[in-house]
Amino acid sequence: MKKLLFLFFCAIPLYALAGSIKSPNGNIELKFSVDEKGRPVYEMSYKGKAVVKPSFLGLELAKDKHASRGMDETDLMDAFHIKDEQTTTFDETWQPVWGETKNIRNHYNELAVTLEQVIKKERYTGDGTAPGLALIPHIRTIMIRFRVYDEGIGFRYEFPQQPELNYFIIKEERTEFAMAGDHKAWWLPGDYDTQEQETQETRLSEIRQRYKTAVNWGNSSVAVFSPTGVQTSLQMKSDDGLYINIHEAACQDYATMHLELVDAETKHLSEQLMGGSNAYTPNPKPSPWPLPQPLTFVSHLTPDATGLKGAMQTPCETPWRTVMVSDDARDMLSNNLILNLNEPCKIEDTSWIHPTKYCGVWWEMIVGKSNWHYTDDFPSIKLDQIDWSKVKPHGRHAANNEKVKRYIDFAAKNGLDEVLVEGWNVGWEDWANMWKRDVFDFVTPYPDFDIKMLNDYAHSKGVKLLMHHETSSSTQNYERHIKEAYELMNKYGYDAVKTGYVGDIIPRGDHHYSQSMNNHYLYVIKEAAKHHIMVNSHEATRPTGLCRTWPNLVGGESARGTEYEAFGGSRPDHTCILPFTRLQGGPMDYTPGIFETQLKNWSDNTSWARITIAGSLALYLTMYSPLQMAADLPEHYEQYDDAFQFIRDVACDWDESIYLEAEPADYITVARKAKGTDNWFIGGKCDENGHQTAIRLNFLDKGRKYDCTIYADAKDAHYETNPKAYVITKKVVTAKDVLKLTEAPGGGFAVSLIAK
Ligand code: NOJ
Ligand code: CA
Repeated sequence: MKKLLFLFFCAIPLYALAGSIKSPNGNIELKFSVDEKGRPVYEMSYKGKAVVKPSFLGLELAKDKHASRGMDETDLMDAFHIKDEQTTTFDETWQPVWGETKNIRNHYNELAVTLEQVIKKERYTGDGTAPGLALIPHIRTIMIRFRVYDEGIGFRYEFPQQPELNYFIIKEERTEFAMAGDHKAWWLPGDYDTQEQETQETRLSEIRQRYKTAVNWGNSSVAVFSPTGVQTSLQMKSDDGLYINIHEAACQDYATMHLELVDAETKHLSEQLMGGSNAYTPNPKPSPWPLPQPLTFVSHLTPDATGLKGAMQTPCETPWRTVMVSDDARDMLSNNLILNLNEPCKIEDTSWIHPTKYCGVWWEMIVGKSNWHYTDDFPSIKLDQIDWSKVKPHGRHAANNEKVKRYIDFAAKNGLDEVLVEGWNVGWEDWANMWKRDVFDFVTPYPDFDIKMLNDYAHSKGVKLLMHHETSSSTQNYERHIKEAYELMNKYGYDAVKTGYVGDIIPRGDHHYSQSMNNHYLYVIKEAAKHHIMVNSHEATRPTGLCRTWPNLVGGESARGTEYEAFGGSRPDHTCILPFTRLQGGPMDYTPGIFETQLKNWSDNTSWARITIAGSLALYLTMYSPLQMAADLPEHYEQYDDAFQFIRDVACDWDESIYLEAEPADYITVARKAKGTDNWFIGGKCDENGHQTAIRLNFLDKGRKYDCTIYADAKDAHYETNPKAYVITKKVVTAKDVLKLTEAPGGGFAVSLIAK
């Protein structure tokens, strides 16, 4: 029998050779092959230069107690041969519900490789009377689908349903990205729970030494896993001027991917636990697979509470792994590769989804001047045991009728669509980091927040209230209440919710970016869509373009937002990096617009925002989002009303966007044409070094005149010493004009061009 089986294996044709495919313009080439051990290998080049050197693909599966019942546990790493290869071309133009441009072209060449894996597996074949273990061929089929665009590539693993592969658990995905040089990289430490750190700028080989100081241990949930672990989207630049970005698209029912760099010191992957409030030791045993060459990134998925990375049921697929490349940094910002790799919109009637400018009862709590909570009377809160009408208020509760009306008046007067109110619902007394399951019910307002009166008042002025649901990461609690919570929103006329996931995940042991949590975020988006509610999710996983499929996902945080200006500040170059990294997957609720940058001028907070007022205005253009906040207090805007005019005027949905200049961590300049109009807005933001620019207006309609208002840093402006020095200039311009502008250190400019 054994002999026969041996012959059978030898008979399998080893025609596992190679496939190759180019991007529509021919600049990018993707090659695929299977090596002598049957390991899938790909490589990628741009204009003849290596971007990804030959790199292996595969998945390690976990051992499982249900193996005997059909749970598969054999690694999908080797013993493959190519069974089939199909190439196709796709070219379509689609219209997003909201976006940077009216039309998006989705044009790629595809290589879909079917791989067959044949391994010998011991199986019992006896009749029960005698020992009968035999080696039976175990045949499994997977597909690897590559899409090659002019801007980069996307590829994913697909697992068709088949007798030998129905259920499996991922121990680790082993997708490799072998870099062709020791590139400069803009990176965040890989972390299962937070991405609210400052970006580090080092060479790849320097990540290990920088790692410890790169971790923001002060965040309420830190779970780092390796001294060379980094997050995606990862932006790099090679010494010969290639901009390379690794990320993922359409991450659903799967864990968020990190990257672990193999460097000269790596002995095996995830070798050293860095610690953290909720740290977990991943892969305690070294992988049996050979270590790649130094300067190779290997995928590292976020585990769930079991320490494993994903429970799969075929047919299924992984998210797309993406590598974008160009020799022009502007292409990194204008390309739509991530959106294109996501499925088309699944919401039939999208008429209720709209771009939104909002202000909110928020910044004053973040800064510490007022509070989310209502009383100091209780050592702890049990929601069902308190009669809130009898509770003594401490007097600093911000979400009160009088204050909310003041914000509504401000929004109505200034053409803002909505007013966010945080701290409106009971439970904020002990809301964070207490491992408290029943933390909020999302339907009971504090006694000084009259939900009906305030919504009626807002509607009478053409404004809506924007709901806030802080979940404190107690996810099952949120799922239990979600229906009632959204029905309450429908009843009072809210059409958008800001959700939040502060602290470690409850049920304990799970992580913000695991498969189960990614399923939770998507569940929330889908439930919200059923109730015609737009979602802006804070502390959720980093986005991967799902907003194409679910355009009610209008915003998210998932990075270090403006709130950090009240927690010690962020570097002035921070906002010149985020569009290259975090924003690749979808818009960010960065909450720009801080005019009173010295918080000590109006509170006890000694932190300060590292930006000029003109720079703050620029962010409404450079940090693209259909949801934009004017985050500062009404009284601060009233003091600088001539500058606030720009926030009143600026659009947040666009027919066209032209990135005029860009360099990661240095400067970004973009011109955008407001949706359905002939008006343009231009924003330029720079780092701590300042920037000079000359903008040719040749994108304007020829022969047309425009009223041009320029909001620029004054000559002596500086983000630290003179942030409020700005100059407003008005003139009439045409397409023949050139605007010469100087951006101060930490500054920027904003321009509105209203067609006459
Ligand atoms: C963190 C969010 O990012 C912030 O915007 C919010 O105010 C607090 N959590 C409270 O929910
Ligand atoms: Ca946050």
